[in-house]
Amino acid sequence: MDELFRIKDLSMAFGEKVVLENIDLTIRRGEILAIIGPSGSGKTTLLRILNFFEKPTCGSMKFDGMDIREINDIRRRMSLLFQTPAIFNTSVFDNVAYGLKVRGVDKKAIEKKVGVALSIVGLSGMEKQKACTLSGGEAQRMAFARAIVYDPEILLLDEPTASLDPANVAKIEDIIRRVRDELGTTIIIATHNIPQVRRIADRVGILLDGVLIEVNDKEKIFAAPDDARSEAFIKGEMVY
Ligand SMILES: Nc1ncnc2c1ncn2[C@@H]1O[C@H](COP(=O)(O)OP(=O)(O)OP(=O)(O)O)[C@@H](O)[C@H]1O
Ligand SMILES: [Mg+2]
Repeated sequence: MDELFRIKDLSMAFGEKVVLENIDLTIRRGEILAIIGPSGSGKTTLLRILNFFEKPTCGSMKFDGMDIREINDIRRRMSLLFQTPAIFNTSVFDNVAYGLKVRGVDKKAIEKKVGVALSIVGLSGMEKQKACTLSGGEAQRMAFARAIVYDPEILLLDEPTASLDPANVAKIEDIIRRVRDELGTTIIIATHNIPQVRRIADRVGILLDGVLIEVNDKEKIFAAPDDARSEAFIKGEMVY
């Protein structure tokens, strides 16, 4: 098994409030790992910590076998698509190019990379349109392009399809599969959508009240989960 990321004994508290407790999680290179759990269970907080937006209260994180404190360019190697992405009041092109511009990438390379990213998300030809005039589904795909434009090794997706219609959900799921299959990107997706987990995940982690109660292969977790609470959550019997 090729480990890309290893999280050990990670906990997070905001003041007195413990939001994540003793998380142990290994992320494998090239996998699609779904993190599921009720609202408020800590999914977004976990993704924000993995992306170094938030510093955990305690715990260790290793990336590619190295302690993350030893890696300078780690932020460049991952990307987080927010639960509610911000859209800049500029063109689609400029929205997607933003991350490359701040990294000082030259103009020719920016044009090429933006073109590739827009083609992956099915928005080729819409470069000049004002981003704020896009439909909800198009806006989400544009945000997706912005997240993948600098070829991250890890892509963190926070409920990327939560407010979309079925057609756009299918498109985003297709894009997720393609990014993994064609670019080899490791993908972690927080989602409420159990059928989506069945469709796209390789492995699944279940987060309840800040505790990762089970991480298993998708087939195993749907057929015979180790924890009775996993089964209740997956079947929709859990009241929350
Ligand atoms: N900066 C913060 N300060 C205080 N509490 C916070 C902060 N960020 C998150 N929390 C709390 O941490 C808990 C977990 O929140 P988080 O956003 O990670 O949940 P989630 O699983 O992503 O939920 P949802 O499915 O609704 O998006 C919540 O109770 C939330 O109020
Ligand atoms: Mg969330």
